Amino acid sequence: MAGGRVPNLFISGVPATGKTTFSRWLASNMDYVRCPSGEEPGPNFRREIEAAIDSGAPVVVEMGFLEGGFDLVEDLTELGFEFWWFDGDREVALQNFLDRPNHPATPENFRFYMAHVERHWGRYQENFEDRRLDVISGPERVLMSNEDRWAAIQTYTTSAARSPLGCESGPIDRRERALLATGIIGSMPDSASDPLDVVRLGYDQLSARYRPDNADPKEYRVWTGELLTALQPGSSVLDLGCGCGVPVARRLVQEGHRVTGIDISERQIERARTLVPGAMFQVADMTRRILEPASFDAVIAFYSLIHVPLAAQPTVIEQVSNCLVDGGLLLATVGWEAWTGSDVDWLDSGVEMWWSQADQATYRIWLEEAGLEVVQCSFAPDGESGHALIWARRQRRM
Ligand SMILES: C[S@@+](CC[C@H](N)C(=O)[O-])C[C@H]1O[C@@H](n2cnc3c(N)ncnc32)[C@H](O)[C@@H]1O
Repeated sequence: MAGGRVPNLFISGVPATGKTTFSRWLASNMDYVRCPSGEEPGPNFRREIEAAIDSGAPVVVEMGFLEGGFDLVEDLTELGFEFWWFDGDREVALQNFLDRPNHPATPENFRFYMAHVERHWGRYQENFEDRRLDVISGPERVLMSNEDRWAAIQTYTTSAARSPLGCESGPIDRRERALLATGIIGSMPDSASDPLDVVRLGYDQLSARYRPDNADPKEYRVWTGELLTALQPGSSVLDLGCGCGVPVARRLVQEGHRVTGIDISERQIERARTLVPGAMFQVADMTRRILEPASFDAVIAFYSLIHVPLAAQPTVIEQVSNCLVDGGLLLATVGWEAWTGSDVDWLDSGVEMWWSQADQATYRIWLEEAGLEVVQCSFAPDGESGHALIWARRQRRM
């Protein structure tokens, strides 16, 4: 058996993400006792689990997302089980679900199951915290191997044990561990350079190539126009990762709003101050800046959050939420699909640029966790792929 603490595991998740296969693998390769031993939990299920725990072996309980599982979930929480949620590209999961041999199924079965998940997620969510593994991805329908799942769980468990804060650690530490576990942090470039420096230096050099002084992209006109209809006159708006201030800050100032723009690139801010004299701009790294609580009516973050290392993004989102007044709006473009990587010849310039984004489902979770209600999430095409355009509203503080 691998070294380190071996947790008792509760595995659940989206259908056809390999839950059963993984728990069987744990039983065969890691000396786990698998419960239920049969296909479905029987009436003696709880006693079966207790007996397995008494035997001293690690136990894996693997289940679909059943309403009848509430009491069991509470019992397992008390017994210190570690809950893991398997997820990923749900379209691919649906295809795999339909293709499973010996399991006649329809798309409605899948949707029925997922509707259960949505309905009861609020009740279960705290048990999983951030222990989510995206195990399935498209379009080649790649399923994470059992070995990699186990390695991710071990990494998470080991780093939790090592943490000076232990199990008491706050949400950020837990998220970071989960990202470590899923290999997302590990997928950052190996080079010695800090991704934030790559981004900062990249925009310093490519500011004008990325956005000429008089640029006015159509989609920006539409998005900013929609925000304008939702704002009271003279609103206070933060443009997070504002670039050169064109076209967003410029348009908002023209419409009489009070705009603050922050950006990590000195060159972007230098141009913004010239191009949009009516706004206030500051060079700042959004991962470090502490924003005043309840100080903005709206925050715009177009294509900027996706340059921040994933591990830091939930904290930035929390700050954004915190700086909004109750009912304030966030309008942001974020990842539609998860991806981290760089382009060493961005915009055919020979200059490197770096991005890191989660998928839209993860952003929804991060936003909701931060106290932002996602009002709308749509696909914004961009070349051959696209991003998620998210409208979210700051929920009322208690
Ligand atoms: C793709 S540009 C978008 C600019 C502007 N929002 C727009 O849509 O026109 C991304 C901007 O985010 C800024 N940015 C990236 N990481 C940042 C960080 N950590 N803090 C502040 N700004 C950042 C970059 O310098 C860049 O100007």
